[in-house]
Amino acid sequence: NEQVPEDKTLDNTVALMREGYLFIRNRIEEYQSDIFETHVLGQKVICMGGSEAAKLFYDTDKFQRQGAVLKRIQKTLFGVNAIQTTDGRVHHHRKQVFLSLMTPFHQKRLAELVMNQWIESSKKWVNLDKIVLFEEAKKTLCRVACHWAGVKLHESEVKERADDFISMVYALGAVGPQHWKGRMARNRAENWIQSMIEDVRKGTEKVEEDSALYTMATYQDEEGNKFDPHMAAIELINVIRPIVAISTFITFTALALKDHPEYKEILKSGNPQDLDMFIQEVRRYYPFAPFLGAKVKKDFIWKDCAFKEGMLVFLDIYGTNHDPRLWDNPNEFHPERFKDRNVGPFDFIPQGGGDPSTGHRCPGEGTTIEVMKASLDFLVNKIEFDIPAQDLSFSLVKIPTLPESGFVMQNISLKV
Ligand code: HEM
Repeated sequence: NEQVPEDKTLDNTVALMREGYLFIRNRIEEYQSDIFETHVLGQKVICMGGSEAAKLFYDTDKFQRQGAVLKRIQKTLFGVNAIQTTDGRVHHHRKQVFLSLMTPFHQKRLAELVMNQWIESSKKWVNLDKIVLFEEAKKTLCRVACHWAGVKLHESEVKERADDFISMVYALGAVGPQHWKGRMARNRAENWIQSMIEDVRKGTEKVEEDSALYTMATYQDEEGNKFDPHMAAIELINVIRPIVAISTFITFTALALKDHPEYKEILKSGNPQDLDMFIQEVRRYYPFAPFLGAKVKKDFIWKDCAFKEGMLVFLDIYGTNHDPRLWDNPNEFHPERFKDRNVGPFDFIPQGGGDPSTGHRCPGEGTTIEVMKASLDFLVNKIEFDIPAQDLSFSLVKIPTLPESGFVMQNISLKV
């Protein structure tokens, strides 16, 4: 690949860990090329970013997911052999079940439950010295996600279960203790949910037929086979865990409000379009999912670059959401940019690109948006609070990241 810039460093694993969210973007800018080759984790990897690259990445004739996700990530974040690692008919069939659980009806229901739960929780905050928003969001969303899914959760378990779901997510870029914490969290959660799946199948646990628990317990694949109970648990966790993970975006939402107080007045009107634009900009501006990986299915050439069967390819999520060709002043927080913008399937990709029903794009985007809007509305219109001095900086190196302090709030009072 003589035409394609190659980062000649022997192995860039360390650089990747040092540059985090900016690793791909930094090189795309340096080489003035959407695509470059490098070595990470002992293998050749093609890295790319921008909307054309995103479009290519979602071409299922050219790329597959099987074999692209490291085992250490399957054992923490996704679960082994989960939907994220499947292709073709298996993927398509399984994907429809996730989408059926994330319809506008479910999105609305989840958002309402979240608002009610925020109001319930905040009644206790008025008597406390301070609260940490991220910690409260984890518990709030864990209660809501489990209740909605039909998963019994005793109040005394909420904190541990919520911490386990978050530990799976925060194991992503981690090595050492943080990685092992994620593995243990996953084992505990899988055992817990698997026993519930088994109880539903035995009939000892009665649950609504339209619940996520019942749906995963009874799902039949494209050949008419039920999941084994462990796989059913993995896929049910694939619905609950990411709902809990919306906590990260909620914490960034609070930070955005603090840093851009001029929007508070606008948002007080409760106009859905204003809430929507603000939330979209939070999802674009702040870092969460860093990049995605896939494997080349068969040889092809794109932009003079030879993609060889079996090669690993990374698509830059954070960098594409900050690509100056797609976004004016990409490093400024500016919700109005979404006002008259028709967002295409490949230029705004915080939760992946393309079409969720045919590709791997996140099925939970509508849910994420509705839950974030309810939480923003709560923060602006339902409570008042002070923000004491604290370290609200966030690293662009740690993947995933979060404001250091988790967003401490004081002197909380209710407006309702
Ligand atoms: C896939 C991000 C919330 C369920 C994905 C992908 C990303 C992502 C980047 C990968 C897309 C790809 O591989 O092409 C996020 C972020 C969220 C979020 C940042 C906010 C916290 C949710 C929610 C759900 C969910 C609320 C609940 C159903 C899934 C599932 C997949 C997925 C099941 C795998 C889809 C597939 O492989 O076909 N998400 N997501 N996510 N997400 Fe989300």
